[in-house]
Amino acid sequence: MLVSAKEMLIKAKEGHYAVGQFNINNLEWTKAILQTAQEMNSPVILGVSEGAGKYMCGFKTVADMVKAMIDELKITVPVALHLDHGTYEACYKCIDAGFSSIMFDGSHYPIEENVAKTKELVKVCEEKGMSLEAEVGSIGGEEDGVVGMGECADPNECKMIADLGVNMLAAGIGNIHGKYPANWPGLSFETLAAVSEKVGKMPLVLHGGTGIPADMIQKAISLGVSKINVNTECQLAFAAATRSYVEAGKDLEGKGFDPRKLLAPGVEAIKATVREKMELFGSVNKA
Ligand code: 13P
Repeated sequence: MLVSAKEMLIKAKEGHYAVGQFNINNLEWTKAILQTAQEMNSPVILGVSEGAGKYMCGFKTVADMVKAMIDELKITVPVALHLDHGTYEACYKCIDAGFSSIMFDGSHYPIEENVAKTKELVKVCEEKGMSLEAEVGSIGGEEDGVVGMGECADPNECKMIADLGVNMLAAGIGNIHGKYPANWPGLSFETLAAVSEKVGKMPLVLHGGTGIPADMIQKAISLGVSKINVNTECQLAFAAATRSYVEAGKDLEGKGFDPRKLLAPGVEAIKATVREKMELFGSVNKA
């Protein structure tokens, strides 16, 4: 069932667990995540970055594929289709394409402009029954080989953006996208606690879920995180499983070159990763 992320995140916040956002790249990814969510009876959020949207032939192709898959695979758990780190323009493209949720990443705009654009999108999303995520304090990561440390959001700024009526808020707490460097100091729980106190019931989003140790994830959930984004970890699992298959020469045996066989170990690896995360986040049987 395609729904906005609003209700599932209110429930998660009240129930002290988190819903996973897993980014999708193609048909195999989407199918693996949807099937695992159904099997685990868990709500799920499919994340689509602008780059992934382009790769999959545009947001309309993605939305139509996801809707058709939900139907054909008889997926009854709540599924949100969410634009990840959207520009202002991409937000409108996804609204038109039939997404159920968007993230407007206005963190690089001056705060006044971020506020004005967020306000406008709050209104549009309300009219369309969609959910909206905003970001305060940019979330670092690898860019051109340089790993930037994650910023910590200003709790007062978080409160101001939360009060605009968004449904979820990504606050930087030292988290970054991709693999964490060896000298990463860990999440700033001090920032998270201060943000949580300011924003009250607002579900908080933790980006850069890959590689955050389980105890830090649990502590983050206990301090108000209700949505956790995971992307790189599924990619690493897929690549490792595909590598083993090829290195074992299985693509050279019989019809092992058939993409349905060649990609199967990678798909199983994505499913195992998603299963493990859903257990850790506590969303199993919360559909
Ligand atoms: P990772 O790739 O580090 O898991 O981050 C995912 C993410 O935050 C997507 O917005």
